[in-house]
Amino acid sequence: MCGIVGYIGHREAYPIVLKGLKRLEYRGYDSAGIALYDGTDIKLSKTKGKVLDLEHKLESEISTHGSLGIGHTRWATHGVPNDINSHPHYSNSGDLVIIHNGIIENYGSLKQELISRGYTFKSDTDTEVLVNLIEDVKKNENIKLGKAVQIALNQVIGAYAIAVFDKNKPNEIVVARLGSPLAIGIGEDEFFIASDASPFIEYTKNAIYLEDEEMAVVRRHKGVKIRKIKDDSLVDNYIQTLQLNLEQIEKGGYDHFMLKEIYEQPNAIRDTFRGRLRTDEAIIKMSGVEDNMKKFLNADRIIVVACGTSWHAGLVSEYIFEDLARIPVEVEYASEFRYRNPVITDRDIVIAISQSGETADTLAAIKLAKSKGAFVFGVCNVVGSSISRETHAGAYTHAGPEIGVASTKAFTTQITVLTLIALRLARAKGTISSSEFRHQMIELELIPDKVKKALESDDYVKSIAEIYKNASNFLYLGRGFNFPVALEGALKLKEISYIHAEGYPAAEMKHGPIALIDENMPIVVIATKKGHYEKVVSNIQEIKSRKGKIIGIVTEGDKQVRELADHVIEVPETIESLTPLLTTIPLQLLSYHIALMLGKNVDQPRNLAKAVTVE
Ligand code: M6R
Repeated sequence: MCGIVGYIGHREAYPIVLKGLKRLEYRGYDSAGIALYDGTDIKLSKTKGKVLDLEHKLESEISTHGSLGIGHTRWATHGVPNDINSHPHYSNSGDLVIIHNGIIENYGSLKQELISRGYTFKSDTDTEVLVNLIEDVKKNENIKLGKAVQIALNQVIGAYAIAVFDKNKPNEIVVARLGSPLAIGIGEDEFFIASDASPFIEYTKNAIYLEDEEMAVVRRHKGVKIRKIKDDSLVDNYIQTLQLNLEQIEKGGYDHFMLKEIYEQPNAIRDTFRGRLRTDEAIIKMSGVEDNMKKFLNADRIIVVACGTSWHAGLVSEYIFEDLARIPVEVEYASEFRYRNPVITDRDIVIAISQSGETADTLAAIKLAKSKGAFVFGVCNVVGSSISRETHAGAYTHAGPEIGVASTKAFTTQITVLTLIALRLARAKGTISSSEFRHQMIELELIPDKVKKALESDDYVKSIAEIYKNASNFLYLGRGFNFPVALEGALKLKEISYIHAEGYPAAEMKHGPIALIDENMPIVVIATKKGHYEKVVSNIQEIKSRKGKIIGIVTEGDKQVRELADHVIEVPETIESLTPLLTTIPLQLLSYHIALMLGKNVDQPRNLAKAVTVE
C-alpha cells in the first residue's frame, strides 16, 4: 500500500505534493513525509501520523521552496510506524532520496551484503536498503541514476512503485513499477507522479500508466522516457485522457467520504447498468461478455476470486449465477486460492472482483488461473487498474472513485454487474423465460429509486445506533442471498467502529453462536419477505426466547417481525435476488453512525488501507 506523489516543473512542488498526499491518504496513513529540492540541497521532513501532522511539522522545520518534490503516505510493512521508518529515505551519502510503495522481499540478504560493504542503516525498512543498493550500483559502475535504478531493480524480488532523485542531478526523477501502481501526469512543461491520478487531476488530464516491469526517467523540460527494466528496450509513451474529475474525489458537502459514497449508490448503480440494461429492447449488452459468449456458455463452472467486501459480492453472485444461469459457482478468497494448488482447467471461467483493481492477492490468483489455462474475467471499479489489465476481458462497475476505506458503493455496483452477467447468460442458455428475463430487468431498473427510499431510514438508523453504540459484540444473520449481506454488515461494523461483529447464516446460529446470546447482544437479522422468510422468523423467535436485542431488516409493511423485534428497519420490496442491494443500505448506515458516535475515524480506520497491494 502507501501513496506516492512527485512533481517536477515550473511551480512550487510543495503544495502540489502535500495536496496529492491528502488525496492518497486512503492508501495508508500511519506516517508521511516529503522531500524537496530547493535549488541547492534536499529538504526533508517526515513524521509518524497523518499528512496533517506532517504539514504542521514540516512548515516549522524546513523551507518549502523548490520545484521538485516527492512525498509519501505510509501503510507500514517493514518496521513499525515511527518517524525514522517514514519515507522518504536517504542513501548513505545523502545524495539520493526515495519513496516506495510495496515490499522488497529479499531485502534481508541485500542489506547484509550492503552492510558488509560498509553501509549503515537508520530504519528497519526495506526501502532504505533499496536506495542504498541503487547508490552502491551507481558509485561502483559510475553510471547515471536511471541506469543504476535499472540494475538495482534487476536484483530485487518483490513489488514496488518508486520515485527517486539525485540532488546532484535535480532535473530528473526516476520512477519504476512492479506490482504497485504508478501514473505520470503530463502537463505543460511539468510532470506529476502519483499512485493514482487524483493528485494531478486539476493540472492535467493526460497521463501515462506505467506497466509492470517498466521504469521512466522524467526530465524537466525534456519529457518522459520509458524502458523495460529487464531488457532496457524503449517503450512508446501511451498517453491516456483521464475521465476523472475533481468533484468526484472531493466530499461534496458530506462530512465523510463514506457517507457521500453511501448516498451516491442510487446514481452509481444507475451508471453501472446504463447502456447495458436495455429494457425496452429486452436485451443486456456487455461487450466483455458478448465477445466471449462461447467461453461462458461452454464453461464447466465459474470460480470467483476476491477479498473482503468484493468477496462478499462474489458470494452473492454465487446465488445469482446458480439460480438464474444454472452454472456451478465456487467463491474463493484470493489469498487462499493462490496458495492451494487448485484444480483449474481451460473450461473454467474465473471472475476476479476488485474495487481498486490493485489487490495483490487477487492479482496473484488471476495470474495463477491464467497459467492453468482458465479464462479470466475482471469486475473492477478503477479504470486502467492492474487487475483490469491483467484479465482477458471484463466489465467496469462505473461507481466512480471510492475513497472511504470501508467499501460501500463498490459492493452494490459489483452485485449489479454480476447480476447483469448472470441475466445475460441465463437468457443465452435459456435457463429463464423471456418474460422472467424482462421482469428481472424491470426490477433491476427500479433499484436506484428503491435504494433512495432505503436511505430515508437514515435518521431512524441513527437512533438505533445511539442505543447500541456501546455494545461489545454484534451478530448479523441472514439466509440465502442475504447471508453474504450479513457478513458484509459485520465487516462494515468491525472495520470502522472496532466493535467485534460476526456474520452468520441464520440457521447456523443454533450450531454455536446461539450460546453468545443474552440481553446484551444486539442481533441484526435480515428478514425480507422474499426468501426463507418463515424460517428466519423462527430464528428470530429463538433469539427472542434468549432475550437478545433484535434489529430486523424487513420488507416495507412487514407485521410479523415487527411484533417480535426490538426495532425494524424497512426496505422497499423487490425480487429476492436483488434484495442485497437494499438490505445492505441500513447496515452501512448503522456502522457509519456507530463509528461516528464512538469518535472513530470513519474514512481512515486504524491499521487499514484502501488498496491492499501487499499480500
Ligand atoms: O479493492 P478490492 O475490492 O480488491 O479490495 C478488497 C478488500 O481489501 C476490501 O473490500 C476491504 O475488505 C474493504 N475495506 C472492506 O470495506
